[in-house]
Amino acid sequence: MVVAWSVVACKHEAGTAPLDAELYQMALNSSGSVWYKNSPDLLPRSTGSGHSEAFLRTRFNDVAATALDSLYRVVADTTFPPGSLIVKELWSDANTLGSYAVLLKRPESEAADAGGWVWGYLRANGEVRAPALDRGAACRTCHTQDGEIDATLMNLYFP
Ligand code: HEC
Repeated sequence: MVVAWSVVACKHEAGTAPLDAELYQMALNSSGSVWYKNSPDLLPRSTGSGHSEAFLRTRFNDVAATALDSLYRVVADTTFPPGSLIVKELWSDANTLGSYAVLLKRPESEAADAGGWVWGYLRANGEVRAPALDRGAACRTCHTQDGEIDATLMNLYFP
């Protein structure tokens, strides 16, 4: 009976944990990424920021970077291509990375929203703050406000 129960438990978790773990690994890997406005400096959180940490900085993988202009800002009205990864690092202070908020364009994912984004939210140690299978329930209301570009907000708050 115990064996049968654990098989069921594994099946139940099969949809969430692997995707969150994959998003975490993707967030850890910054190779080939570029920073918003080409600057790795920590930015003080904006008035509109949905996260409690005091500082942030945002990077784009090579695919997402194709939607940036020559100043490394997001091109107005762009749609990020599949494979785009955007990672917002949330820092409590200059020495403490608290969490990663992640956007991955993967329309075929069961966790993708209508725009093809998968929303990840992980602590620096890999702990899940919001499961990807929530499909950005805690994120999208804010990220679809006027002025967003394909659900991104950096241009709006750090023009
Ligand atoms: C209350 C509003 C709000 C909520 C809720 C929110 N965010 Fe954000 N997010 C922002 C703002 C504003 C920015 C721009 C940077 C800043 O000011 O913090 C941003 C930036 C980002 C970025 C960088 C890309 C970009 O330009 O938008 C990612 C990735 C991100 N958020 C992911 C998430 C995820 C994942 C969640 C849910 C777990 C979430 N956010 C919830 C407001 C919010």
